[in-house]
Amino acid sequence: MTATRGNPMSETVSVPHGLPMERDAGPFDPPREITRLREARPVSPMVFPDGHEGWLVTGYDAARQLLADTRFSSRQDLGILHMPYETPNMPTPTEPSPQVPGMFIAMDPPDHTRLRRMLTGAFTVKRMKMLEERIIEITERQLDELARLAPPVDLVREFALPVPSLVICELLGVPYADRETFQVNSAKFLVKDASLDEKMAAYNALNTYLTELVTDKRAAPGDDILSDLARQDELTTEELTGIAFLLLLAGHETTANMLALGAFALLEHPEQLAELRANPDLMPGAVEELMRYLSIADIFFRYAAEDIELGGETIPEGSTVIVSLLAANRDPKRFDNPDDLDIHRKARGHLSFGHGVHQCLGQQLARIEMRAGFTGLLRRFPTLELAIPASEVRLRTDMNIYGVHELPVTWTDTAR
Ligand code: HEM
Repeated sequence: MTATRGNPMSETVSVPHGLPMERDAGPFDPPREITRLREARPVSPMVFPDGHEGWLVTGYDAARQLLADTRFSSRQDLGILHMPYETPNMPTPTEPSPQVPGMFIAMDPPDHTRLRRMLTGAFTVKRMKMLEERIIEITERQLDELARLAPPVDLVREFALPVPSLVICELLGVPYADRETFQVNSAKFLVKDASLDEKMAAYNALNTYLTELVTDKRAAPGDDILSDLARQDELTTEELTGIAFLLLLAGHETTANMLALGAFALLEHPEQLAELRANPDLMPGAVEELMRYLSIADIFFRYAAEDIELGGETIPEGSTVIVSLLAANRDPKRFDNPDDLDIHRKARGHLSFGHGVHQCLGQQLARIEMRAGFTGLLRRFPTLELAIPASEVRLRTDMNIYGVHELPVTWTDTAR
């Protein structure tokens, strides 16, 4: 990637092989090139691998403004699926994406508004508070299972992935016994270099499974979110399937990676870990800071529906715009010493759950899962440590949601 100073278009970032993703500054920090770019030009022109010109937003103010402005259409990318583009992750310019029924993360108002409104009741702070006890129960049961294993164990497989999967399955009314189908296929979409054929195969497998599930719920609704939606005549089966797809995928992959990468980050900051163990009241603030610091859902795409001024630049209509939430959350103009993890920081205001009309629907759920997960893990495993050198932990630089592929951990004692 190269950047040269000069007139507006001459300082163009050239990205021949996609965005720089190598974590050359450390496992938790943005790639150096991204940081340099934010300092040089927080809204930069960039050239995609197929040669078309677009924009990359790395500054906090510009990122927030972009996310708040629906003229930056979300119809540039099928949300976390990054489909249906031939070049992985790189949308075709000048055309909004075709809409997939129900997939409201990739829709604009009023289509987005209509579908999101049907779900807001199910995910309010109040509804989530009512579920808190049940989430703690699920978490503690998983910790019991973990404690029965002989270390070393992979924390991703035995804890970080099961907890949010169990929770979202229960909420949606998806049988947990079917987890292989949705975990394996969800993971395939998130592989950055997967071919369109591979993504389509995974998409079709999951879609077929969910179409059957929502059709059954239409016929015999139960007591869960998908059944509540199935009772609404105005939703087609295709829309119901698309919503189920989005909620299931967004509901387990993201939180799973936060739990695993968060545990890794805490183990690498032993003083703050000790403080958190000694004073669990610090947990809500620590979770916000981990969200900011790690920004696991980093890259999002938008499409300029008209000429728009952003950060002193004019983004022409039809441009593809990429935003890096990780870069924005590490902007020193917004957060002091942004590259330090500081559990005492007031990190609210971070953009890790997005901002504007698409701001994460599941954020209260995710917060409760993370608080319960980290609190339980630290309490039950007072001697938790990495079972391999930190430098050997396999990072998910190849995936669209960042994290670790495995986190081998060990312990000598457990507690209740
Ligand atoms: C949207 C991050 C957990 C469901 C988003 C967006 C971000 C995000 C950044 C905005 C996307 C955009 O502007 O294009 C995260 C992170 C999570 C998390 C980091 C975990 C730590 C969850 C959970 C659910 C969920 C547990 C469960 C249902 C959604 C949905 C949307 C969304 C449905 C689309 C909202 C819309 O388009 O109106 N999430 N999320 N997320 N998230 Fe989450």
